[in-house]
Amino acid sequence: MNHQEASMTTDAQFQQHFDDKIAADISIEAKDWMPDAYRRNLIRQIGQHAHSEVVGMLPEANWLTRAPSLRRKAVLLAKVQDEAGHGLYLYSAAETLGCTRQDIYQKMLAGQMKYSSIFNYPTLNWADIGVIGWLVDGAAIVNQVALCRASYGPYARAMVKICKEESFHQRQGYEAVMVMAQGSEAQKAMLQDAINRFWWPALMMFGPSDSDSPHSAQSMAWKIKRHSNDELRQKFIDNTVPQLDALGMTAPDADLAWDGASGHYRFGEIDWAELNEVIQGRGQCNHERLQAKRKAWDEGSWVRDGAMAHASKRAANAA
Ligand code: 3HC
Repeated sequence: MNHQEASMTTDAQFQQHFDDKIAADISIEAKDWMPDAYRRNLIRQIGQHAHSEVVGMLPEANWLTRAPSLRRKAVLLAKVQDEAGHGLYLYSAAETLGCTRQDIYQKMLAGQMKYSSIFNYPTLNWADIGVIGWLVDGAAIVNQVALCRASYGPYARAMVKICKEESFHQRQGYEAVMVMAQGSEAQKAMLQDAINRFWWPALMMFGPSDSDSPHSAQSMAWKIKRHSNDELRQKFIDNTVPQLDALGMTAPDADLAWDGASGHYRFGEIDWAELNEVIQGRGQCNHERLQAKRKAWDEGSWVRDGAMAHASKRAANAA
């Protein structure tokens, strides 16, 4: 509770003060009064964002031992390490709301919390790794730059640091795919195949259409979301199509075309049934991803036990 709230006594006064701060774009901080629903919505979104970061390490880690050069291996290693750091950063932001990372992580392992659908697609070859950096981190940047202005202070500030690192992720991916686009016919074909497999799933990262999004209206009223799912999806497409052209590649969308009147690219209908299937756990890799995370949790118990034993010994010595 901050000093202004100290004199308040009724929920109505606290709610009005909260509403006034949201309206005035004043950050809500961890110690401030906030509606329970605002808190729950943030734990849900930040927790799932953190889960996405740590599960997202799996498809790329799959290629660490098979990177085509030492340089590519070092760059990919740096990226995967960054993702782990983003996850820890976001779990810390979630914990400022009163949850524990253990609890929300177990909910993810039990299938009770989500992570981004995009990580339930397989990485079949090196082109996929470049395309993930370029398209997936590119989409994440569009989404996360907007979150730098989220009303909840710890989340917004976490996004500022994370977006700086995402920019490196996107650039290293685009540089990798550019090399393939200027390579042999076989490399060009491999790249086009990767784009064909990841284009639509990358668009699905922005969530269901605005008309089908149960959270967007409230999240935008609370200024957690500054733009709707469809607005950010459109921004990503408008950013990315010129990059696709520069690669000499095409999107798997016959309806994709520039619309001068609107100043945007028009695009085809997204397969919402596919997104729903993946979200419901019936994607290509859902089972494999959660199984890998459950196995890592079990095999890592000795590390947690050792760290906890060390921490309690230090606490006992300090007492
Ligand atoms: N994958 C999985 N679940 C999704 C989804 C997707 N692509 N899109 C939406 N959903 C889920 C939502 O979580 C929600 O389910 P829930 O009630 O169980 O949480 C439901 O579908 C309805 O969707 P809404 O649009 O109403 O939900 P939101 O308002 O939360 O919007 C979101 C969805 C745009 C993903 C929003 O949660 C968000 O911006 N999250 C923060 C960013 C994030 O999580 N990005 C994921 C990728 S992180 C990443 O790419 C890391 C990078 O380093 C590679």
